[in-house]
Amino acid sequence: MSQHFQHDVLVIGSGAAGLTLALTLPSHLRIAVLSKGDLTNGSTYWAQGGVAAVLDTDDTVESHVADTLDAGAGLCREEAVRFTVEHSREAIEWLIEQGVPFTRDDETAREDGGFEFHLTREGGHSHRRIIHAADATGAAIFNTLLAKARQRPNIELLEQRVAVDLITERKLGLPGHNCLGAYVLNRTSGEVDTYGARFTVLASGGAAKVYLYTSNPDGACGDGIAMAWRAGCRVGNLEFNQFHPTCLYHPKAKSFLITEAIRGEGGLLKLPNGERFMQRFDPRAELAPRDIVARAIDHEMKRLGVDCLYLDISHKPADFIKSHFPTVYERCLGFGIDITQEAIPVVPAAHYTCGGVVVDQHGHTDVPGLYAIGETTFTGLHGANRMASNSLLECFVYARSAAADILKQLPTMPERQKLPSWDASQVTDSDEDVIIAHNWDELRRFMWDYVGIVRTNKRLQRAQHRVRLLLDEIDEFYSNYKVSRDLIELRNLAQVAELIIRSAMQRKESRGLHYTLDYPDQLPEARDTILVPPIYGE
Ligand code: FUM
Repeated sequence: MSQHFQHDVLVIGSGAAGLTLALTLPSHLRIAVLSKGDLTNGSTYWAQGGVAAVLDTDDTVESHVADTLDAGAGLCREEAVRFTVEHSREAIEWLIEQGVPFTRDDETAREDGGFEFHLTREGGHSHRRIIHAADATGAAIFNTLLAKARQRPNIELLEQRVAVDLITERKLGLPGHNCLGAYVLNRTSGEVDTYGARFTVLASGGAAKVYLYTSNPDGACGDGIAMAWRAGCRVGNLEFNQFHPTCLYHPKAKSFLITEAIRGEGGLLKLPNGERFMQRFDPRAELAPRDIVARAIDHEMKRLGVDCLYLDISHKPADFIKSHFPTVYERCLGFGIDITQEAIPVVPAAHYTCGGVVVDQHGHTDVPGLYAIGETTFTGLHGANRMASNSLLECFVYARSAAADILKQLPTMPERQKLPSWDASQVTDSDEDVIIAHNWDELRRFMWDYVGIVRTNKRLQRAQHRVRLLLDEIDEFYSNYKVSRDLIELRNLAQVAELIIRSAMQRKESRGLHYTLDYPDQLPEARDTILVPPIYGE
């Protein structure tokens, strides 16, 4: 039997953004935090690099802002950048207060009152400003925040819960546009339950799984973006999909990330013959922003007809490598690659969704009562290319700002009446799950081939044609069969793929992560691509 639940705040997603929001809200609020699988399945847990913030006495807000604007290729919203960077120090102080074990700077024990944690460098940053926990920062942050959340009786952490769709007044045929909660598949009972909430928060990460090769865990299906779109929210700049330049190339590695901090600490990119090449593409060489490095690698791989290039840090002392990059060292060793002795075979892979649900500084979407935070969103911070380690920062700054806003809105947001149950009366068990598996593969492959690092009009048209066929087939499947996690994710992925393709077709220039052979130049004026859902035209 399906069940009904009522909370003050429903958080869809249990990563850095969702947990930060839940922990920032006061303990008299009833909060549910949903995870599609086990709590550790989200992207945060796998983040290696760190969090960018103005922490060093020699660094400045102006410098961090300038680097971010530069990496964003003219498309960042300066007020969003400034807002994020100005709140960076307090976000890190909050994390330190929670007990996150960031790596300490034991080489320069700071008697001068300066910052006592080690700061590393990554592409596009002109200063050392990445605070980290060796090369497993995401796990350190996640484990700390999760332990704190477990101590809070008002926070329910619910695993194996897949949000199917948001419940809005409009969808129920009621007057108004408010979001009232969500229908959620309980994978253990197989039932779709009804979660009513005064505030619903999308914190469900990005959509990198739309591509065949990705550094992301399996759940990065753009669920929040697709649900928000269907609920009537605008989305922005979805054509900007970041490809991380260096994922491990190994048949069994499933796109394991090789952190950019390796290049920050002196790692060199090399051709199969051992030659360096990045200086031919950008004076910052290995520390150029990601779009430039990923495109350079892609270009050299195609030019030479090779399957991978190499990242070499073996010139550094073995102890340094093992202490700074224990995760990468161990993982590569597991595949027979000793990174203290040899170069690492690498390829680019889809890594981060720079666009998303349009929100303001408080995480408000276009639908009242619905907030979005983290990678699900388009805040204007990343522009046409996200700078490394600005994304975790965005999660903390916007989650804290959204929590403060929810608190302010609380007195005006009433408890809702009982919502209708999910209607499963017209659906049966599917006997053709092979279609879902096939459509997953087809979608991810044509997105990789046609909507990847280098695009053309023709490739985008091909992709659009295919995605529309898939959407029709998925819709029919969704209307006739019981929902499963695979079907829900496929429906969301296909929806987001369609939005990515449409956004890419609207951009008649090359800028940042969007590079097309048909319009290789950047237009003088930088404009966002904002898509408006059809409900407003109805
Ligand atoms: O390379 C990395 O460790 C990734 C950092 C990021 O995506 O911000």
